[in-house]
Amino acid sequence: MTDLSSAAGSTAALSGAQADVAPEDEFRLRRSFAIISHPDAGKTTLTEKLLLAGGAIRMAGAVRARGERRRTRSDWMAIERERGISVSSTVMRFERNGLVFNLLDTPGHEDFSEDTYRTLTAVDSAVMVIDAAKGIEAQTRKLFEVCRLRDIPIITFINKIDREARHPFELLDEIESTLALDAAPVVWPVGMGTDFYGCFDVLTNNFLTSSQGRSHAFDTVRPMDGPDDPRLDEAVHGDIISEFRDSLSLAREGYSEFDAEAFREGHLTPVIFGSALRDYSVDQLLDLIAGFAPPPRTQPTDGDPVEPTDENVTGFVFKVQANMDPNHRDRIAFLRLCSGRFRRGMKLNHVRTGKALTVHSPVLFFAQERQIADDAVAGDVIGIPNHGTLRVGDTLSEQKVLNFTGLPSFAPEVLRRVMPGDSGRVKQVRTALQDLAEEGLVQVFKPLIGSQWIVGVVGILQLDVLSSRVAGEYGAEITVEPVQFQTARWITAPAGSDAIEKLKAEALTSLAEDRDGRMVFLARNSWELDNIKQRFPDLVLRDTCELT
Ligand code: G4P
Repeated sequence: MTDLSSAAGSTAALSGAQADVAPEDEFRLRRSFAIISHPDAGKTTLTEKLLLAGGAIRMAGAVRARGERRRTRSDWMAIERERGISVSSTVMRFERNGLVFNLLDTPGHEDFSEDTYRTLTAVDSAVMVIDAAKGIEAQTRKLFEVCRLRDIPIITFINKIDREARHPFELLDEIESTLALDAAPVVWPVGMGTDFYGCFDVLTNNFLTSSQGRSHAFDTVRPMDGPDDPRLDEAVHGDIISEFRDSLSLAREGYSEFDAEAFREGHLTPVIFGSALRDYSVDQLLDLIAGFAPPPRTQPTDGDPVEPTDENVTGFVFKVQANMDPNHRDRIAFLRLCSGRFRRGMKLNHVRTGKALTVHSPVLFFAQERQIADDAVAGDVIGIPNHGTLRVGDTLSEQKVLNFTGLPSFAPEVLRRVMPGDSGRVKQVRTALQDLAEEGLVQVFKPLIGSQWIVGVVGILQLDVLSSRVAGEYGAEITVEPVQFQTARWITAPAGSDAIEKLKAEALTSLAEDRDGRMVFLARNSWELDNIKQRFPDLVLRDTCELT
């Protein structure tokens, strides 16, 4: 772990442009975003190139190297190494041209999507990476749906155009038809695969190319008067340039023009063709985020929405990571600030418990280090070390009592009974389950009858992580056994209805409580679920519940 005591970081130490901005407007210089993609589309590579472009790292390979170091920290990371996936979300902060970018990393494997969904509640925009040969894949689509639920504006980066790829029109059509979103091409390829010459930036009329020949990173920006500029003919082979002009002109007729307002409202996605590996169009992506992606947005609460301009400091916890350092039972709660100017040592109201919480050592996460945060504004993410007080979904507020809404917990698709391997370790297993449920790794259900715990996960791989972490961090072996149930639904009934009482009388063994005492129906199969819905029409069955 970085030595926090020696770090003297501060958001006040900012570059040129930022110094001119009034303190109350500093949040406008924040761009908090995530990258969504299907595994292997190129998210890690693009993250690394964005960090390089933003000066946050100096060498390609640093993100992977960072992963390697992190993996050595605790046993459960071994799973990451074995399976070649990333299971933990982190925040990477970097500055460029006076703007502060907070890149929230989302776990790429579909089994960890619940964590990913929550991370998406903490961003103001997202970059959707699509493999140019594969188009929109299952996981991208799922994540896109979450972005749409929250009207998060999306920039599309069509990656790997250095290889043989599908035709650009095919890809744009797929975006429009599958996602019901207008696609506006902003960086268009000049040739593809082995005939690739560069890209044309429609917004600036710049031809982006490499001075070192094809297949090298873009290092040359050649301003043009437009796609018909004769200077392009000198740089690009005749057939390719006429093909490019035809396709761009058709694209301009057939698809939308870039409209910043429609993008910010989540109706239109600007599309950039590029290659993370070859460093094609990565600067253009950053410029687009800087110029058009929204600064911190208004956030929904159970009362009035919170504006980033509100003076009252507020934020919500979207992720908790326990045992980042196995020698200390520390936890870091990741707090997305939504309003006000947070200062180190500030006393905030922990709304769920009603207790005051003094934040002595807030942490900012950079690509390669952590620093103590002396101050932070809306859009920033700070890490708050704590001993289990803070949970995913918690709201912190300086004065007003309010709760941020919209942080969902999803109905598990896999349910298992957890048994301690050694009956002498029951207590450790119970503590572990509670801790890891707080972190959001698993959900824990306590059946109304019986003394055993049932855990629920959205993806099966989480069970391996669970066993490995309980063994590594709590010194207890567990066995995970199948149960007769397949899924769970949170249930409520309107006031005055006796539906829950009737259900209890009939199906007590299928009822459980979640860790907050909310009633849950455990279903054997979808037929049973439908049957219950028909027979108890009053009953409201939910496959998500708000974490407040
Ligand atoms: P992910 O995080 O979305 O899972 O993807 P990641 O960046 O790890 O990329 C997956 C594979 O695709 C990697 O190859 C990576 O080098 C390659 N890749 C990423 N961007 C591009 C691109 O623009 N063009 C081409 N041609 N390939 C790209 P790998 O062989 O699986 O891994 P590695 O050995 O290169 O690390």
